[in-house]
Amino acid sequence: MRFVAKALIVGLTLTAGIAIAKEGVQDPTVKARMDLMSTVGMNTKVLGDMAGGKAPFDASAAEAAKTALAAAAAQIPAAFEVEADDPVSEARPDIWMNMEGFVEKAKGLETAANAMDVSSLESVQAGMGAIGGSCKACHSDFRAKK
Ligand code: HEC
Repeated sequence: MRFVAKALIVGLTLTAGIAIAKEGVQDPTVKARMDLMSTVGMNTKVLGDMAGGKAPFDASAAEAAKTALAAAAAQIPAAFEVEADDPVSEARPDIWMNMEGFVEKAKGLETAANAMDVSSLESVQAGMGAIGGSCKACHSDFRAKK
């Protein structure tokens, strides 16, 4: 039950994130990293919806989402390498003052995604906590609440 609740929270949080941030972004570097983060969000939502019972469990869809999530996570450091800003960006300047810490959080997500066992509903539910925790760990240090 605990995992189900967490998965639902992750799903809701990222749906809100996608709706708010994207409109009107001008800077191409910022747009690219937001698009990457949307890919992270959408694939997490696929897994979170299954874990929370909003979508039926489907092992191959879960495998695809897991693979895409891990691949997107691996691209986070490069996407944020160049310091770029945009009025709609939620990236905190702390990223470029502590790139090492930021990359570590990206690695945390990649590890959590790779570690998720997608063979059953229960194992997806069990893996959701680590994934959701790694989003939160990075967002709370490096993403501004607007
Ligand atoms: C290594 C750090 C890091 C990790 C890990 C991370 N994020 Fe993010 N995320 C960010 C930053 C920074 C932004 C703000 C980017 C900007 O606005 O320039 C962001 C923005 C977002 C957005 C808004 C995208 C947009 O279009 O503006 C969503 C959705 C999102 N993250 C979902 C997630 C989810 C879900 C996870 C976990 C599965 C996650 N993120 C993990 C750093 C991270």
